[in-house]
Amino acid sequence: MKHIYSNILKFNQKNLQKIIKTLKNSGILGLPTETVYGLAGNAYSLSAVKKIYKYKRRPKINPLIVHYYNLKQANKDVVLNKDFYKIYKNFSPGPITYILKKKKNSNITPLACANLKTVGVRFPRNQVIRKILNKLDFPLAMPSANQSSGLSPVNPYDVSEEFNNKIKVIDGGSSKFGIESTVINLSGKISILRPGVISPEKLSKILKRKILVTTKQKKIRSPGVLKKHYSPNIPMKLNQLSAPRNYAFITFGSKYPVTKNSFNLSKKSNLNEAAKNLYKFLRLIKKKKFKKIYVVKIPYTGIGIAINDRLKHAAVK
Ligand code: TXA
Ligand code: MG
Repeated sequence: MKHIYSNILKFNQKNLQKIIKTLKNSGILGLPTETVYGLAGNAYSLSAVKKIYKYKRRPKINPLIVHYYNLKQANKDVVLNKDFYKIYKNFSPGPITYILKKKKNSNITPLACANLKTVGVRFPRNQVIRKILNKLDFPLAMPSANQSSGLSPVNPYDVSEEFNNKIKVIDGGSSKFGIESTVINLSGKISILRPGVISPEKLSKILKRKILVTTKQKKIRSPGVLKKHYSPNIPMKLNQLSAPRNYAFITFGSKYPVTKNSFNLSKKSNLNEAAKNLYKFLRLIKKKKFKKIYVVKIPYTGIGIAINDRLKHAAVK
């Protein structure tokens, strides 16, 4: 398919050279991952990281996730502990971010971590981003490629829209999961700072103790720092049984038909499918200019915990 957007580039050998060159020169790019698309720049370069904050209009107190190709690279910047290795073995590369202590001699530019003593570290699984990381001698700082507090992009067109076609984006198709990585704090008392693709149940099993979701940490400036987040900027009401016909109605399960105003996250009641559809539908509802959104109750289990978290934040006025 030919792109109508000249800023969306195919991933091929020729463009890989261009991507490497741009990133080496502290440029920034929209890149695919298996969760959502990110806005990427050299995590060792202050000028690249400054551009990321500026383009996203992100408050400088909100740290970025640093993405690595492998353990050897990450080991230069952060302290890898026992619990980290246990989870890493099971879930990385993949949709999980570890908060770890930063090493004193780390090259990460302090702004990337909002001057904290910790770093959010992720090893993405998507093959496009892995092929890029493999060619670099620095990790990539990469927040979701959206304007601060808005909806995360799940395909290259979403990214382009977020930045008025001013950012180059590499086409990696639709994001496999469509919702962000789980953020787990391993730098102190272990807890989940942002529920995501990997559920608390799965993490509890690996670490052989109950891991809680505590999005309201005092010391750590975490995803909860900005109450309103992941938001379509349309008033939303959760846990509804029905909706007036002029409101958008987000549903789940076989008893809800798809109509002009109703959007079924998963007719089969599959929570993975629902997570994948969430941002896609919210963006569509915004385009259709609905004035209000009602949402049915979504099961609070597995990836459903992440869906509920995003809906709660999105519904903040
Ligand atoms: O799936 C994902 O994680 C995507 C893809 C692109 O990798 N990235 C992403 O980044 O969602 P972002 O910046 O939108 O969300 C990262 C969250 C932020 O809310 C931030 O507060 C938290 O991770 N975070 C990053 N570093 C942290 C740190 N050192 N301590 C506590 N929280 C941190
Ligand atoms: Mg984000």
